Amino acid sequence: MAKLKWGMIGGGEGSQIGPAHRLGAGLDGAFEFSAGALDHRPEAGREYGQRLGLAADRAYGDWREMLEGERGREDRVDLVTVATPNATHFEITKGFLEAGFHVLCEKPMTMTVEQGEEIVNLARETGKICAVNYGYSGYSLVRHMRAMVARGDLGQIRLVKAEFAHGHHADAADADNPRVRWRYDPAQAGVSAQFADCGIHALHMASFVIGQEARMLSADTVSCIASRTLEDDAMVNLRFDGGAVGRLWTSSIAIGRQHGLTLQVFGEKGGLRWAQEQPNQLYWMPLGERLQVIERGEANLSPEADRTSRVTIGHAEGMPLAFANIYADLAEAIRAEKEGRRMDPAANLYPRAEDGLRSMAAVFAVAQSGHAEGVWVDARPPMFR
Ligand code: NAI
Repeated sequence: MAKLKWGMIGGGEGSQIGPAHRLGAGLDGAFEFSAGALDHRPEAGREYGQRLGLAADRAYGDWREMLEGERGREDRVDLVTVATPNATHFEITKGFLEAGFHVLCEKPMTMTVEQGEEIVNLARETGKICAVNYGYSGYSLVRHMRAMVARGDLGQIRLVKAEFAHGHHADAADADNPRVRWRYDPAQAGVSAQFADCGIHALHMASFVIGQEARMLSADTVSCIASRTLEDDAMVNLRFDGGAVGRLWTSSIAIGRQHGLTLQVFGEKGGLRWAQEQPNQLYWMPLGERLQVIERGEANLSPEADRTSRVTIGHAEGMPLAFANIYADLAEAIRAEKEGRRMDPAANLYPRAEDGLRSMAAVFAVAQSGHAEGVWVDARPPMFR
């Protein structure tokens, strides 16, 4: 089977998320890294691209040059990953979708709900994939939680509790550090800081696992470091469209917490608990029975879990392998389209532009509610009401 061709915008040398994408896309041999515009400094991007093995004529200086260079090629890239800073996602994603490329965009997909709606409409009109990198939904045991909920192991879902709380912006002495400051500046970050950066991962995971979307929310947002305009901590109460209640905490001042993405799901027949820092164990307590530890890689888990487990039981699997599972879904989707067949349903789980749009609506709802002492507001994008 011929390899698919993959390109990347952003993710230059020293970037936070670039290496995880390259590891994830390269893992299965489905994608060949073929083109890139990796850095906001054209020369640095060209040079780094070639060091990573790109041909000189496909190590581009910026994304427009890459779009022009790739669109006319017979061997043009099959998928473009957008891993640049947030404010650039919309125009780059829009440009590549319009030119007929499949796109995997980093989160948050856009800066406004209107832009999100435009991307959803564009993906639908062009028939191109626009995936959004809620990469943590690629973990095998997250997929297994989803399968357990879908097959009814927990019965009706009563409550979901999601957290994404870290302590990396907790030092008030660091508040003026330029690498930190922009995140809390509305001119650069938009209407929300911590919720838009991390809270949307927790919300996406909650929705993904329980199969319900946020309908209403009420938010308490605070800037614990007083010089900040945008929130560094938020507690959000939610009501989902299938009847579940949601509690979501996100923070960047939680000293001692490292990454801090966790999910608990409580149904009428049992409860689940999973933490991203120990992703290879899932705690399952059926009502009236003993607590059980489900290990990733165990026999007889769901097909969704089996498909996404990569190394044998008892050996650690982590974040780049979760990203690899998103890329594996996308490789299957692109190949199925090329071959004119239906894709494997167990792979049809990658997050979509619709998810990116729902996140944007939630970001604006959190900001609105947070400014109005927690008034309940509609959490849905207008086009899904
Ligand atoms: P970063 O600041 O560490 O790196 C950004 C990279 O993009 C740099 O190499 C920079 O030179 C390059 N760049 C900037 N503007 C560019 C342009 N116009 N064209 C080409 N390259 C450009 O940022 P980081 O932390 O890697 O974040 C990038 C994106 O990934 C953000 O949207 C962030 O929210 C998202 N992210 C997602 C995560 C996830 O789990 N899904 C985790 C961390 C970040």
